[in-house]
Amino acid sequence: MGLLRVAVFVSGNGSNLQALLDNLTGMVEFVLVLANKPDAYALVRAGKAGVPTAVVRYEDYPHRAAFTRAILDLVTEKKVDLICLAGFNRILDPLLIEAFPLRIMNTHPALLPAFGGEGMFGRRVHEAVLASGAKISGATVHFVTAETDRGPIILQAAVPVLDDDTPETLAGRVLAAEHRLYPEAVRLFAAGRLRVEGNRVRIIPG
Ligand code: GAR
Repeated sequence: MGLLRVAVFVSGNGSNLQALLDNLTGMVEFVLVLANKPDAYALVRAGKAGVPTAVVRYEDYPHRAAFTRAILDLVTEKKVDLICLAGFNRILDPLLIEAFPLRIMNTHPALLPAFGGEGMFGRRVHEAVLASGAKISGATVHFVTAETDRGPIILQAAVPVLDDDTPETLAGRVLAAEHRLYPEAVRLFAAGRLRVEGNRVRIIPG
């Protein structure tokens, strides 16, 4: 059996993509990096790693279903086993989620189910955490289901919220946690060690 075929969807800097590439190259096969923005720095990272890239702009399609259909065609053509959302800032139409049941992962920069849901992306998440007065935030890697940010949680790590944090300093601490968790979650998936029972994910001992 060949290596797990992974596609990573990005919109911006791609530091999580980099963490996946750095930690998993050779253990899985990165067959596609897909961006919805042509100027995403993540595309440069993919190019340097020799991973094929594609740009699918939301603006080029009449509605979300057509945008998602174009993406579905690409991942089908590439025989993708697992899709990793890594800072991808578009909600996917259920048609892709249904085609890849429990085969799409996402990293979210807070401890879900808090501070998630539609519109909770990047800096806005950290602003909401700071405004809430929470003393702890963190990173969550989860499976994507039709309900935004509510799919089964695979791994979480907590980070402290410090008194003088700004959205940027908090984001940096959370990103460092994401960079550890995301490769680990994909590694566990590739090893067949994630068993989903309802909304809970059991990690099978190695
Ligand atoms: C990450 O912190 C990721 O969790 C977040 O965007 C950042 C992307 O950084 N995603 C979301 O907020 C999804 N709701 P990166 O481009 O450097 O990987």
